[in-house]
Amino acid sequence: MKLVGISGSLAGWKTNVAVHNALEAVKSFDATVQTELIDLRDYEVEFVNGDPLAYYNEDTFKVVNKVLNADFLVIGTPIYQASISGVLKNLLDHLPVDAFNRKVTGMVTTGEIEKHFLVSEYQLKPILSYLKGLVPSSNIFIHNDSFSDENELFDDQVLERLNAFAKEMVSLQQSIEQRK
Ligand SMILES: Cc1cc2nc3c(=O)[nH]c(=O)nc-3n(C[C@H](O)[C@H](O)[C@H](O)COP(=O)(O)O)c2cc1C
Repeated sequence: MKLVGISGSLAGWKTNVAVHNALEAVKSFDATVQTELIDLRDYEVEFVNGDPLAYYNEDTFKVVNKVLNADFLVIGTPIYQASISGVLKNLLDHLPVDAFNRKVTGMVTTGEIEKHFLVSEYQLKPILSYLKGLVPSSNIFIHNDSFSDENELFDDQVLERLNAFAKEMVSLQQSIEQRK
């Protein structure tokens, strides 16, 4: 199984670190899972303008196809204005409506306002569900205070939650694969 992580931040590194930790947690449950982390700052994904995918630049084509070829995904975003980042929303706008059919799509968010832990449920989950993704019951919100100044995750409770999240992702995706 191929697991693709997306880091939807062009600014800092917390989202990247959070998604990386989620991918590592998944691998600790199932060492056969192949992982790839797509950090959107590494690609020039063009704004959606209504053209078919083939009309966009190579990076846009590459990233969209990496997402479409994944078996399951961890989707990470910093919380911006009580919602997801624009760069992540733009990538999601490129996808066909059945992009996540038979795929588990886990959500990882980082933010500085504790009360925004439910933003992924209200802002990201409806988009993933619309694209036919199966969203696990557990999701990960990581407050900025759980990161060290070097952007390392040092909060044991967060690491425990990441393990539970990873376990659920693997078992849900395995049960989908068994029904293929
Ligand atoms: C434009 C902007 C808007 C933000 N809005 C929110 C917000 O509404 N709620 C929140 O919890 N954090 C908000 N933040 C803080 C970021 O979500 C937080 O610092 C995040 O961990 C940054 O992730 P990164 O290091 O991957 O860029 C905002 C940050 C920026 C730059």
